[in-house]
Amino acid sequence: MSDEGYEKKYIKDAFKTNWIAPLGANVDGFEKELAAKVGSKHAAALSSGTAAIHMALKAAGVGHGDIVFCQDLTFSATANPIIYQNATPVFIDSNFETWNMDPWALEKAFKKYPNVKAVIVVHLYGLSADMDPIVKLCKKYNVTLIEDAAESLGTTYKDKYTGTFGDYGIFSFNGNKIITTSGGGMLVSDNEERIAKVRFWATQSRDQARHYQHSELGYNYRMSNVVAGIGRGQLKVLDQRVAKKK
Ligand SMILES: Cc1ncc(COP(=O)(O)O)c(C=O)c1O
Repeated sequence: MSDEGYEKKYIKDAFKTNWIAPLGANVDGFEKELAAKVGSKHAAALSSGTAAIHMALKAAGVGHGDIVFCQDLTFSATANPIIYQNATPVFIDSNFETWNMDPWALEKAFKKYPNVKAVIVVHLYGLSADMDPIVKLCKKYNVTLIEDAAESLGTTYKDKYTGTFGDYGIFSFNGNKIITTSGGGMLVSDNEERIAKVRFWATQSRDQARHYQHSELGYNYRMSNVVAGIGRGQLKVLDQRVAKKK
């Protein structure tokens, strides 16, 4: 079956089962299939990569007045969610070899800002950052590592998929990405509890009650079951796309 055929099949399933909402079999399936593909334990399908970065920061406990290290050579969507959380980005230079975060500059920043709350490293244009020293530094300083793998789904570093080195990884399915759902994102993590919490925040933080009750600030960030159907079909051609890009 062509890739278009798979996408149509999953979309048809969504209509046939009448699950057009931001939940359903395609959302669950896309989360499981993408997590399995990259080797992460859990995933939350969201409305965009930007939303996924926002939820990763919130899950990491980033809030008012916190400092977050952010790669400087990147798209603005990497940094914007830091401001959504009323935190302050401190930009870390990229290096000539990887075009991504320079571990030497990161170490210098850790010494200058010992109370930093999180680090966002980017794998720009599908090229991996030099993850070994970056992971080592984040562990040494006990700081949450978020990987903006929006542009690097399918990229590996030492045989491991980008997006799975840190505490959280995010992917984008925007129209200009290696696979697309027209728009969408995914947050991956091995932390089941944090992913469950993100799903809760992303569906308006609706408490378990018969009436509408919200004890926490919520967001309308969940991916629709129709969009997730496109994602499931697209995931089947990811390896072909990566080979073609290479
Ligand atoms: C590096 C990077 N980060 C974040 C994003 C945001 O993703 P989205 O457009 O799905 O919100 C993009 C792409 O648009 C990106 O290229």
